Order: sequence, then C-alpha cells, then structure tokens
Amino acid sequence: MVTITESKMEKLREDFPILSRRIHDKKLVYLDNSATTQKPKQVIDAITDYYTKYNSNVHRGLHKLSEEATVKFEEAHNKVAKFINSDSQELIFTKGTTESLNLLAYSLLTDLKKGDEILLTQMEHHSNLVPWQQLAKRFELNLKFIEIDKDGILNLENNPINNKTKIVSVAHTSNFLGTINPVKEIGKIAHENNALFVVDGAQSVPHMPVDVKDLDCDFLAFSAHKMLGPTGIGALYGKKELLEKMHPFNYGGDMILEVKFDDTKFNNLPWKFEAGTPNIAGAIGFGAAVDYLNKIGMENIKNHGLELTKHAMRRLNEVKNLEIYGPLRADRRGPLVSFNLINIHPHDTTSLLDDYGIAVRGGHHCAMPTMKLMNLVGSTRASFYFYNTKEEIDYLASTLDKVKGVFK
Ligand code: ALA
Repeated sequence: MVTITESKMEKLREDFPILSRRIHDKKLVYLDNSATTQKPKQVIDAITDYYTKYNSNVHRGLHKLSEEATVKFEEAHNKVAKFINSDSQELIFTKGTTESLNLLAYSLLTDLKKGDEILLTQMEHHSNLVPWQQLAKRFELNLKFIEIDKDGILNLENNPINNKTKIVSVAHTSNFLGTINPVKEIGKIAHENNALFVVDGAQSVPHMPVDVKDLDCDFLAFSAHKMLGPTGIGALYGKKELLEKMHPFNYGGDMILEVKFDDTKFNNLPWKFEAGTPNIAGAIGFGAAVDYLNKIGMENIKNHGLELTKHAMRRLNEVKNLEIYGPLRADRRGPLVSFNLINIHPHDTTSLLDDYGIAVRGGHHCAMPTMKLMNLVGSTRASFYFYNTKEEIDYLASTLDKVKGVFK
C-alpha cells in the first residue's frame, strides 16, 4: 500500500503555516478535519494573487483584468469538474454542500405531487435532512429513512423504497459514524425504482477518488473547505439532461442569455445555476486546492486516511472506559472516529483536550436525530487528513487518559 512517507510528510506539513502554531503553549494537533481542513500556502497564495494582481468581475468586462479573472475562474470550474470526472457543463459552483442540496430540493420538489416520497438514511447530517424535510412539509411529500444498525451500517435489505419514491439522497460517508455507504449499490436500487439518486459527498470527495460516471449518481454535492479550499464555495454535479430540465434556483445576472420586460431566456449550463457575481476568489482557491490534492494523489490520501483510522481505532480501543461509534472495521469508515469517555460529557472531553493543544469536535456534529436514535447527547470526534500522523493519534490517546484523571 502506498502511503505518505515520513520525509514527504515533513515537507508537506511545511505547506500548512497553521500547523506550526502553538495552542495553550502546546504544539497544535489538528484533528477536526471533518469540520474544515487547513489550507496550504498554495491555496492562500492563489487567493492573494487574484486580489493583488487581477481582481475584477468575470463574464462582464471587456478589459484585460476581467479577461484574466474570467480565464482563471473558468479554469477552476474545469479543474473541479475533472476532479470528479464530470463534464464542465455539469459542475455548478455553489456556496457549499448545504446550498447545493437546497438548490436541488427547491428545483426538484416543485415538480413532485402530494404523497410522493423522498428516501434518506438515519445517518444524514442536517444539510441532507433539513432542506428535504422542510420542503416535504410544505409540498405534502413524505420522508422515509433507511435504518441503521447498532454499528452504523445501513439496513439495505429492508429499505422502504417503493413506486412513490422519487428521490433517494444519501451521505457517501457519515460525518458522525464514519460509515462509508455502498452508494453504487444504493444508486442501482434507486434507478431500478425510477428515483433520482443524490450523493452527499461532503465527507467523501476530500478523502477518496470519487468518479461520478462510475457511481452513476444523478447529483453529487460537496464543499471546498473540507478539501483544502476556502469556505463559502462548493459544488453541485448534476447529469446534463437533468440540469437542462430543472428550474434555476436563483434568478439574476449571469444566469441569463436574453432578458425582456416580460420574460427571460436562461444561460447555458452551468451558468444557468450561477446567478450574480460569483465567489471568484473562492473558486480560484478551490481550483488551487484541487491541484494540490492531485499532486498528492487521491489514492495516497485514501490509503493514508485508512492507516490513520486503523491506528486510531487500535489506540482508542486501548483507552479504558471509552466507547467508539460506527463500523468496527476501519476499512468501512472514512478517516474519522467518534467516541465518548463513559460518564464524561463530550463537551468536557473536548475542551480538556484543547488545553493540550488538540483540536477535535465535541457535540452533536450537525446530526442531532442520529445522536438521539443512539441515546447520546453527543460525542467527541477526531477526524484526520493526509497531514496528520500516527504520533498525533498516540498523543490523543495518552491525553485521553489524563482527561479521565481529572474526573476521578
Ligand atoms: N458538517 C461539518 C462537520 O461534520 C460541519 O463538522
């Protein structure tokens, strides 16, 4: 298995200025990558270059700066599209996964009729639950859920899909349990039942090669900031024939070809879905992030994540009075581990770890219904990226023993 070698690791960590910060006079150990990843200087420089060298609006100006900005913006579009093996026309820039899923829900649900069903799973984060739930209420549609077992694995044999199901929307990787779902298989079930298949790739696209043609998903949503890019930008992939038929989500400038007082002809894909001045700097940063990931190689990133997850499960299992949630097998997980120290509130664990310079997330992880289903108030979650090391995980495990000591 190819992983990131120690010498390569040392060098690549130098690309991330923040990783040399000290927190509470300790070395920063950043294990909150499912919430957002750190940014390499290549991404920061690309954004600074835009603002310092060719800041201008895109698709509008007939001057040199605008031309340069337009070329870079469209280049970024193409890079992100290529990253998931999509055609450029099928890749829309949004504010992030949440907006991508809202765009879909608003654009698709207006065509559904009372009693139609939307199928989700019991492990969705709020971004892939609340938009469908709220619009389902408004349009009198029904939400159904594929159940999970005690280890956070979907019960596909018993799924409630039927001829009323119009949309199936599923997390590729759960942000709380870590489960990697068999999305190809779920997509086949959705299509056999004539339902559209949506993949929430927020936690998968940053960590493994994702190919929309291979998955045969109809839509895929993901965010730049979880894959080295800036916040406030993300993407929605959609099959061309579906995007052509869909209503725009936002109306305004740039999404038009011709406007009259009483009607509008919409622009070609993907611009039909990108109204207004876009997040140009964000897009350029997103493109630079994709360049960086390609340089490391997504297979290497996946393998390194798996090595870290295996190591974390082994080391955390050695900590007494600690329970881990999600699949028992590391290879069924994305690179994250959620856990609790028994009888210690996850907020206490998380803030005590912070005293030692360890950044992890504590709480409901934007997956409140899943927490409730598992009778939990929350958990502490350590989530990894390719710049993390086994030594950092060892430090987490030994610090958890100290945290327990505080409550004795
Ligand atoms: N969805 C993000 C997380 O899991 C914010 O932390």
